[in-house]
Amino acid sequence: MINEKRRRVIKSLTAGSALAGIAGQSILSKALAAETPHAIYTDGYSAGTEVKRLLLNDLIEIEGMASKIIPAGGFGYISGGAGDEWTLHENRTAFGRKQIIPRVLTGKGPVDLKSQIFGIPLTSPIIVPPIGSHGLAHISAEAGTAMGAAAAGTIMGVSTVSTLNLEQVAAASNSPKWFQLYMMQDIGFSRELLQRAKAAGYKAIVLTVDTTATGNREADARNHFKFPLQFGNLTSGGAGGSIQQLNSAFAITIDPKVIEFAIKETGLPVIVKGIEHPDDARIAIDAGAAAIQVSNHGGRQLDGSPATFTVLPSIAKAVNRRVPIIFDSGIRRGQDVFKAIASGADVVGLGRPVIYGLSLGGWMGVQSVFELINKELAMVMQLAGAETIEDIKHIALA
Ligand SMILES: Cc1cc2nc3c(=O)[nH]c(=O)nc-3n(C[C@H](O)[C@H](O)[C@H](O)COP(=O)(O)O)c2cc1C
Repeated sequence: MINEKRRRVIKSLTAGSALAGIAGQSILSKALAAETPHAIYTDGYSAGTEVKRLLLNDLIEIEGMASKIIPAGGFGYISGGAGDEWTLHENRTAFGRKQIIPRVLTGKGPVDLKSQIFGIPLTSPIIVPPIGSHGLAHISAEAGTAMGAAAAGTIMGVSTVSTLNLEQVAAASNSPKWFQLYMMQDIGFSRELLQRAKAAGYKAIVLTVDTTATGNREADARNHFKFPLQFGNLTSGGAGGSIQQLNSAFAITIDPKVIEFAIKETGLPVIVKGIEHPDDARIAIDAGAAAIQVSNHGGRQLDGSPATFTVLPSIAKAVNRRVPIIFDSGIRRGQDVFKAIASGADVVGLGRPVIYGLSLGGWMGVQSVFELINKELAMVMQLAGAETIEDIKHIALA
């Protein structure tokens, strides 16, 4: 039985949507209507419910806006970093140490943001990286993000620890998705997740290698944060569905054999996410990685590790264009995207701002976030003298 409040929310989420042609609406209502444990918050937790376009000035202030919608415990979990949060802040600070030297007499223009990875066309080189538990931010959870990513013409990474299960997210939109695997101690369950992802139509596997333990996120302790929902993928598997069960379920050692395992089980491109050292990039490529994701998990894992922007040039040198480089951690502005691409990235992931957009406006909020950062990137390209994404790679930073 769906209660009345829930019925109203579903109606408001699905009514008047402009997403003709995207399968999301019916899937969303089915997912939300389903009497599954993960769809029900415990402890009186209540996430965003509105679906609307957002008027945004920038993707810095959106964090403060989201803090008024997402309950304190959930907001601390999403916004926080590990330990002193030095790496979290350094991810932003590092971009300020490099400047773009504009070229103004090259006759370039108008700007074209189009990009691609593994032959998948993208509206711009900005994608959604895997992020756990979108239900903390908005009742539509990953279904809302999937619809927003589809509307934005981009790829969505779907986490092992998503709120909805991977099949529900796959069905929420027709746009391409990648499944992110946290390798589990239970190899059979890891295999099952990979096979389910392949069967559900995921186009690549993102293998996260920086999480053999969960980082020391002190905000969660300070807020006495108890996860108010379950993880859709884990309720039937050996890992169980709660955060406590999860922490002891992750594999505690990771080596190149895990990359080979993910390739063998799926035959899909495997992106190795969480690389900060050129030698790890080399090892991953030797093991068959189809792409490298330079990431420090948005400062949530090893506090005191460098900003990803600091290490990107040395990793780009080691990769030497053998495979694409995806970059994330700290991207908030179009000029950050530009600087990352000028330093060797092919595509970038935009993390927390997408979740904030989701909390404030559901799928339309996600779309609004992409519209804003794409607009900023186009402006930076115009002023710096880059007509295409490829051109950015030839603009000097100082
Ligand atoms: C709340 C939250 C949950 C995350 N969950 C995952 C996850 O399940 N798997 C993963 O590989 N990365 C996860 N990440 C890391 C993101 O994929 C990405 O690396 C990070 O958000 C980028 O940094 P940014 O938020 O500063 O843009 C998570 C990040 C946040 C903020």
